[in-house]
Amino acid sequence: VPPTRNLRLLSALRALRANPITLFPRQAYVEPVLALGRGRRSILLVNDPCTIGHVLVDNAGNYVKSRLQQDVLAPGLGEGLLTAEGARWQATRRITAPLFSPRAVATLLEDMRSCALAMRDRWLARPQPGETVDLAAEFQRLTYEVVSRTLFSGALDADRAGVHAEMAVYFDSIGRLDLSGVLGLPGWWPRPAHHRAAPAIRSLRQQIKAAVSARLGDEEHEREDLLERLSRAADPATGQMLSAGQVVDNVLTFLAAGHETTANALSWIAYLLSLDPAAEAAVVDEIAACAPMGIADARALDRLSFTRAVINEALRLYPPAPFIGREAIEDDRICGREIRPGAQILIAPWVVHRHRAHWSEPDMFRPQRFLDDCGDRRRPFLPFGLGPRICIGQRFAMQEMLIVLSAILPAFRFEPVDPDRVFPLARVTLSPAGGLPVRLVPR
Ligand code: HEM
Repeated sequence: VPPTRNLRLLSALRALRANPITLFPRQAYVEPVLALGRGRRSILLVNDPCTIGHVLVDNAGNYVKSRLQQDVLAPGLGEGLLTAEGARWQATRRITAPLFSPRAVATLLEDMRSCALAMRDRWLARPQPGETVDLAAEFQRLTYEVVSRTLFSGALDADRAGVHAEMAVYFDSIGRLDLSGVLGLPGWWPRPAHHRAAPAIRSLRQQIKAAVSARLGDEEHEREDLLERLSRAADPATGQMLSAGQVVDNVLTFLAAGHETTANALSWIAYLLSLDPAAEAAVVDEIAACAPMGIADARALDRLSFTRAVINEALRLYPPAPFIGREAIEDDRICGREIRPGAQILIAPWVVHRHRAHWSEPDMFRPQRFLDDCGDRRRPFLPFGLGPRICIGQRFAMQEMLIVLSAILPAFRFEPVDPDRVFPLARVTLSPAGGLPVRLVPR
């Protein structure tokens, strides 16, 4: 192998590790399926809507979460809903599903609203109007508070900064694409990222465990929340309960899956609106017309159709979960290709949402397309996944985003300090690299 080829390979691997979304070749955005890499270790990138449906919905039983994804998530989240498989996953989904029903999510509206208004009031109380803040960090704090308050009745509030810091270390070290997985290295191969993340994961789990036992020991508590349901509920189908360790796994899962994603979505929405004053004005007008006194009930949320289109368009361009990975259990055939057990399939909302065959002007921010094309189900749009493992928190997240936007946009607009330097970085989620510094401009 000529040395230059080795060097090229090395720099491609480095780029892949640094920010995998930069490495998709141009054909990725054109072809229905594409093998990334060669031979046994190749990963099949699937863009074709029918094939995506086959893997995630129709033949979902033949595909488990991919090794690459599990390698990143399972060390921290154990057997939580996001990482569990088989009977354990089914039981946990049955136990937790009622908490995310439309009626249950509607009851969380008031808590979401007061967290959003508290952030707005914090901004209003700042001594210098026009001050610069890192909007990405602000949204992280807000969405953490929302999950902690709505799902765990504030039980995780005590050391928010500590939990946040540990989670950032965990996600940042382990969330880089693990090259040992890409290269097919054996399980015993040393993985420095896992060693770096291990103390953060240990301490995170200890903190969560302590918060969970303090909250469950509190006899005065009235409301049945997710924590209580996880610890007391038996699976209606089998009567089985979750172990104490599985309760901790799931608390961490809901905290991790439920705050980074929504925070990043809010950052991208704010960024895109700041570049499109006409869309921003339309959102502010719609909020003023539909919810002049702020969002008071779930019906007002239904009327925010343009704001919803803005959210969808931001989720299309910057899907907070940019990759969905699967691994075949048994032989299958997709798009004329033989799929062997262990084959790695990648469905990348990042790619699918910008695919040339499915979207016109795919790189443009055009919220209107979600109003014009709402009847067109053929467009592959899956920011929340699809099939039995679709995001359980989808309704929760949509409601939260609508409430946050209607609390803050009538009061502020955001001016990114350096809009040209904002670019997406893929770790576990897709965030603005280096945060999103903006000037808060009161209206
Ligand atoms: C699963 C995206 C918000 C909890 C997923 C999946 C995606 C996703 C793509 C499927 C992963 C796969 O199939 O491999 C998002 C996005 C969000 C968001 C883009 C916000 C904009 C939330 C919220 C919660 C949550 C707010 C909880 C409060 C979960 C859980 C799963 C999941 C527990 C695993 C479900 C299962 O496997 O049964 N999410 N999510 N997510 N999400 Fe979300």
